[in-house]
Amino acid sequence: MNDQPIYWQENQVGRQQREALHHHQGAVLWFTGLSGAGKSTLANAVEIQLHKMGVNTFILDGDNIRHGLCSDLDFSDQGRGENIRRIGEVSKLFVDAGTVVLTAFISPFREDRKTVRSLLGAGDFIEVYCDCSINVCEERDVKGLYKRARAGEISDFTGIDSPYEAPLNPELHVDTGTVELALCVDRVIAKLQTSGVIPASSHTIL
Ligand code: ADX
Repeated sequence: MNDQPIYWQENQVGRQQREALHHHQGAVLWFTGLSGAGKSTLANAVEIQLHKMGVNTFILDGDNIRHGLCSDLDFSDQGRGENIRRIGEVSKLFVDAGTVVLTAFISPFREDRKTVRSLLGAGDFIEVYCDCSINVCEERDVKGLYKRARAGEISDFTGIDSPYEAPLNPELHVDTGTVELALCVDRVIAKLQTSGVIPASSHTIL
């Protein structure tokens, strides 16, 4: 692929200019965890708060993306790898657009998450481990998928017959199994402030 005669087009308006316009930086909040751990719930709640603070945001959510951009992929290790690779590339575009992108994908494999981390610039990838035990996820079973996986109707289900490799050194570790949602949101917002992605003085304006 790399030997194709394709060149990189430089544009006059770049990331820096867009970030200056937005009064905040672009970054990826990468929520990872088991199905039912609360990734989408937390990403949504954080997005509402950021929106009220005047921050440009966008959510990429596994369940939605797999209806379109990644509808051709399965849940094999390779299918998940390609899913995460594409999301990494799309996230990079959003960061270039000066947006805070929130991704909610199980992204069970350390290697795949590491690939996305290296694709992005230092400080642009903020890994948020949504830590919730399989027992709690299975008890919640919001979509009824654990029940179906236990019944053998779905194979390669994360936590049942496909592994989840927990982050070893995430930027943020939130206990979404026991800690109240509002407190988890506060921790994510605080992380964005201490990392300099949004100003420390940011407050609700809407
Ligand atoms: S990932 O592993 O490739 O990151 P992704 O986050 O896109 O997964 O999609 C996970 C969602 O797909 C789950 O929340 C669940 O609703 C659904 N799903 C369907 N089949 C599976 C499966 N075998 N393993 C995990 N999730 C599945």
